[in-house]
Amino acid sequence: MTFELNEEQLAVKEAARDFAQNVLKPGVIERDKTMTYPKEEVRQMGELGFLGMMVDPRYGGGGMDTVSYVLAMEELSKVDNSCSVIVSVNNSLVCWGLETFGTEAQKEKYLTKIATGEWIGAFCLSEPEAGSDATSQQTTAVDMGDHYLLNGTKNWITSGGTSKVHLVIAQTDREKGHRGINAFIVETDWDGVAIGAKEDKLGIRSSDTHTIMYSDVKVPKENRIGEDGFGFKFAMKTLGGGRIGIAAQALGIASGAYELAVAYSQERKAFGKPISQHQAIAFKLADMATDIEAARLLVYRAAWMKDQGMDYTSAGSMAKVFASEVAMKHSVEAVQVHGGYGFVKEYHVERLMRDAKITQIYEGTSEIQRMVISRQILKKGELYVPVTPTLAHG
Ligand code: CAA
Repeated sequence: MTFELNEEQLAVKEAARDFAQNVLKPGVIERDKTMTYPKEEVRQMGELGFLGMMVDPRYGGGGMDTVSYVLAMEELSKVDNSCSVIVSVNNSLVCWGLETFGTEAQKEKYLTKIATGEWIGAFCLSEPEAGSDATSQQTTAVDMGDHYLLNGTKNWITSGGTSKVHLVIAQTDREKGHRGINAFIVETDWDGVAIGAKEDKLGIRSSDTHTIMYSDVKVPKENRIGEDGFGFKFAMKTLGGGRIGIAAQALGIASGAYELAVAYSQERKAFGKPISQHQAIAFKLADMATDIEAARLLVYRAAWMKDQGMDYTSAGSMAKVFASEVAMKHSVEAVQVHGGYGFVKEYHVERLMRDAKITQIYEGTSEIQRMVISRQILKKGELYVPVTPTLAHG
């Protein structure tokens, strides 16, 4: 089985690379320092189609495959991970969730605006007391007949301050455990929705991460997603694809740091020659290249499996856990290659190192990914994911 990037996929990769290098890069250090939301950059990403890449064109999307999406994520993430997390959440959690499980009316009303970037979406699952243990939802939605009454607090919400639409996971019947959880579409300008202060973070500093409070928010019945009790499965299925997006982000961080390290090592001289000519540095580059290539294969394979309609649960988790660990390890190494210059903001690698950490935490920590993978092995007897396409680079 051969898996080759086609012309369209290569064109998407090129367009994302151009945008990242020419539009995102010039202001990325300043936005990171000042925690400034990339408003104009997000507007342009909407215009260029990066916010609804996989959505059917009849709902305003690009109609692209997941492989194209991860190629774009990789290129954007080499430069600006505050922008790429907004892209990832909007595409794989919000748009995909709505397109796959929403009603026609929900798609017409919400997806058409979110896919084009006119509105930004957020995915509200995490709570102060329910992070990894996502079934312990404390947010409640009480059935009042023609509407639900939503109360609770969500935290670490990407695009929490700028989104117009939230997909909110809430408990509707505690007795039923995870089968008593539902997902709702909530508009942020409805009465009772309050946005907390923007988090001051280690990395992805210009993305707007907020706590959200819901007090007696009236959610119309038609804004529930799927059958009664489908909310937890909705969250899990949606996060399955989200993890491929974050894996691609981690791959982008690792390869962005690697590209900077290769270039710097060829310019910087020590002991009479470029430091790349010293084995201590050359071997670091070799290890980076090897791990990044392995991560790339896992990420592309997970995306490809999703495009083939195969079960990508393990493949996505494997890609995320591996790529995020490679991103962390090799962004640290890229700083080391740069020496003192790596420790200052001007050289970009310190930011990539700070950004890398979150890829091991959000959309399921590395520990949760190992839980997902091991359960697939032990419950389903899935000894390995039986698909290994041969990858040909264009
Ligand atoms: N697809 C479909 N169904 C699934 C599923 C999946 N991938 N995973 C679990 N389920 C179903 C199970 O089959 C089960 O249903 P049945 O009883 O009908 O069989 C039900 O869901 C409950 O599953 P578990 O018993 O496995 O539940 P658990 O309590 O052991 O938790 C977990 C499973 C994998 C640990 C889950 O809680 C989890 O993924 N936690 C991490 C949450 C997470 O990723 N949060 C990220 C926040 S979002 C974010 O970061 C966005 C952002 O802004 C960047």
